[in-house]
Parts: sequence; structure tokens; C-alpha cells
Amino acid sequence: MVKEVMNVGLLGFGTVGTGVLEIIEQHQDKLAHQIGAAVKVKKVLVSDLDKDRGNVLHAEKLTDRIDDILQDDEIDAVVEVMGGMELARDYMKQALENGKHVVTANKDVMAVYGSELLETANKHSADLFYEASVAGGIPILRTIVEGLASDRITKMMGIVNGTTNYILTKMSKEGRLYEEVLKEAQALGYAEADPTSDVEGLDAARKIAILGTLGFSMNLDLDDVSVEGITKITSEDLAYSKQLGYTMKLVGIANRVDNKVEVSVQPTLVPHSHPLASVDDEFNAVYVYGEAVGETMFYGPGAGKLPTATAVVSDLVEVLKNKRLGVSGNSVVLPQHKKQLKNKDEIRSKYFLRIHAKDIPGTFANLTAMFHENNISLEKILQVPLNEGKLAEIIIVTHEVSRTDYDNVLERLQNEDVVAEVKSSYRTEGEMN
Ligand code: NAP
Ligand code: HSE
Repeated sequence: MVKEVMNVGLLGFGTVGTGVLEIIEQHQDKLAHQIGAAVKVKKVLVSDLDKDRGNVLHAEKLTDRIDDILQDDEIDAVVEVMGGMELARDYMKQALENGKHVVTANKDVMAVYGSELLETANKHSADLFYEASVAGGIPILRTIVEGLASDRITKMMGIVNGTTNYILTKMSKEGRLYEEVLKEAQALGYAEADPTSDVEGLDAARKIAILGTLGFSMNLDLDDVSVEGITKITSEDLAYSKQLGYTMKLVGIANRVDNKVEVSVQPTLVPHSHPLASVDDEFNAVYVYGEAVGETMFYGPGAGKLPTATAVVSDLVEVLKNKRLGVSGNSVVLPQHKKQLKNKDEIRSKYFLRIHAKDIPGTFANLTAMFHENNISLEKILQVPLNEGKLAEIIIVTHEVSRTDYDNVLERLQNEDVVAEVKSSYRTEGEMN
């Protein structure tokens, strides 16, 4: 018998959960038209039943017992927006095993347990969708899996963490201090409960692991992502990079040559003319290069109640529509390729390097010899005197080099007599116009 009402169990009723309820209630007509049945939130799991939640929901819908949702045969789909790792993973797994479809916004779980949960979904002919886990309101997962299904994606570069993009924008455009802007990002609700995962790059690493897995159709684990955050970036780095025509962004990079891939997150300099350079404040963007389509970029809000809830409810529409059409479980496409990671000789990039060197005859000859001996050609050089002529600030941008050659030259520089200190080093992507 065709159901007239599809029931949803909501796990979590915080920022995203309240947004999900709001969108479901406000868009009933549209949802019913698309799904062919009304959508009702039947139960909502929270941890604190006594918390004041205003009048947004009947108190009898709230529960702190997961079985009220997982064991309720009338519930068709479970929306997991409570966050955390092990418990959220267990609840999603049980829901799938009980024949319920699952939608989640949880990048932490999907980056680590995604393949396991997708296999569980596959085994139980259930759907598991997670569009909101990467770049909040930007429908980037659907774009990669469906919109570019006919193409071969070779590169993705994402500004996928709103907190760090907000901090870098305010530091570089307004000259503000890191600590002060981080507090502001927390107050605005962009940062995770513990912002370490934002500023140290882990949140972005989870998202680029998910993007890489889908874009390259190969299981990429969080451990495969090399990660560096934004905490060491100084105002001098921002000023000199700007002077040389670059904008600093925290970028998640996934690229492949043949079927060998590299996935990383690091502060990256992109030319001012690069599409990612103008993505400011808390906004996110994902640049995707496909062999046939060429360059594309997807831009929008990466977090926040309604943008994230929109992605969640759009997944829910698909899940419920699939259920009504009797095609649930067909959306899970397991990875096509075996994982092959590039080694350091195969990872190629340009680099920006800032060093303090003795301002004496022969310094430059010494430096250029070291780069030459390591097969590194230089694209740009800037020298500024420091300390009344005793030291010079030298900024170098290399041409594209292998990570092996670059690490070798870094080690040489650190042990070289004319070099007082290697102040900073950043990956550089994109061509100057
Ligand atoms: P939140 O505001 O902290 O809300 C979490 C909700 O889950 C609360 O209602 C909490 O209950 C409930 N909860 C937490 N642990 C629970 C437990 N063990 N048992 C039962 N209920 C529990 O979190 P959020 O910002 O909405 O984020 C939810 C998820 O979406 C996370 O995975 C996050 O990474 C992801 N996400 C968030 C955003 C965003 O902009 N916020 C964007 C993209 C993805 P109480 O209300 O009783 O405390
Ligand atoms: N803390 C995350 C960010 C929230 O700053 O982008 C969205 O995942």
C-alpha cells in the first residue's frame, strides 16, 4: 500500500536539527509534490530533555531513548544531526540494519567510517546520503557523483572550512589578529565546539577525504590526507605573499595523474586572479577540474542552520522518493578503483619560501647553488634589508618541483651558514595571468 505520510526520526535538535524541522514544516507543499507523500518528523532524539526549546516542537516528540526511533517500524528515514563519532556511527549502522534510510551531516563519521556504513547500506538495500557533510549549502557531492558522472575528474581544490577562511580574510584584508578573529568566528557559530579541528586543518581534511573518495571513486582514508593548519601563518607572510600577487587560503587538494592520487590540506598561495582567491569570509568553494568539462567552481555558504539544513532535507527528499518508487539502495555506488597514493617524487607543486639570510657577499650565490643542485628553478625573488643591513629577508617562489627535491633544499637551507632562519614555506597553486 502506498504511504500517505513518510515518517522521519531526527537524531539531534541543535543548529542543524532545528533548521531541518523548520524547512520540513515550511516546505510541506513542495515536499509532498516531489515525494508524493507528506513528510512528518515523528520523533526527535536529544541528550537533555529539560532544555528550553521554545515552542518549536510538541514536547511528546522529544526523546532521549534511541530505541524510540530505531525500533519504531513506522519511521522510514533517520536524519543524524547530533554530531560526534562512535555513537553517531553506531546509531546510523543500527538504523540501516533495521531497514531505515539515513541522511547525515556528519563529516567526522563519514570521513572515517564512510566506506563501512555505505557497505552496510548496500547490504540492507538502504540509502545513505551525506551532502551536508561537505561545504554545507553547496550541493557539491551530488555535482561530483551525478552532474560530472560522465567526466573524469583529475583535480579538486576546496576552501571547505568557513572558520579558517573567515580568519584568513580578516587577517589579510583588515590586518586583524588571529586570536581576536577566531573568537569572533566562534561567536558567529562557524567554528566546531573545539575549534582545534578547524584551525589545525582536520575539519577540512575530513571533507577533502570525502570529496576525493567520491571524485576519484576510490576509498581514501583520513590517514591518507597530509594536514597542516593555519596557526603558524604570520602577518609578514600575508603581507609578502600579497605583494607578490598571491592570496593565502586554507586549501584541500585532491589530484590524480593516471590513477595515482594525492590528498592534502595546507595553507596555499593562489594568484589574486585564481577563482579561489575571491572566496572570502565564511564562504566555501570547490574548484573541480574534469578532463572534458575543464575548470568549474561551486560557491556558497559552507555552514549555518538553514544552508546546512537545506542540503539535509534535499537528501531526505531523494531518500523518501526512492522509497516510494521502490528503488532504495540503488544510489550507493561503491568505489571503482583500488587506492594508489602518489609518493613524494610524484607530488609536484610550486612553493613560496621566506628566509632570513646574512646580508653579505656570496649569500645569493650560495642560495642559488643549493636550489640548482636540487633541480629547482626559481620563478620569483624578492629581497628586503633587515636589522640595519645585517640580515636580509628573502622571499623565493619556485617553479614546479617534486616534494622530494623541495624537502631536500629545505633541509640544506636549515643547515646553511648564511641562512639565519627559514621563516616560512607555503605551497603555491595556479598560474599568474
Ligand atoms: P549542535 O548544535 O551541537 O546540536 C547537537 C544536537 O544533538 C543537540 O540537540 C544535542 O542535544 C544532540 N545530541 C548530541 N549528542 C547527543 C547524544 N549523545 N544523544 C542524544 N542527543 C545528542 O550541533 P550542530 O551544529 O547542529 O551540528 C550537527 C551535525 O551537523 C554535526 O555533525 C556537524 O559537524 C554537522 N554540520 C554542522 C554544520 C553547522 O553549520 N552547524 C554545518 C555542516 C555540518 P541537546 O539539544 O539536548 O544538547
Ligand atoms: N566548522 C565548520 C566550518 C562548520 O568552519 O566550516 C561546517 O562544517
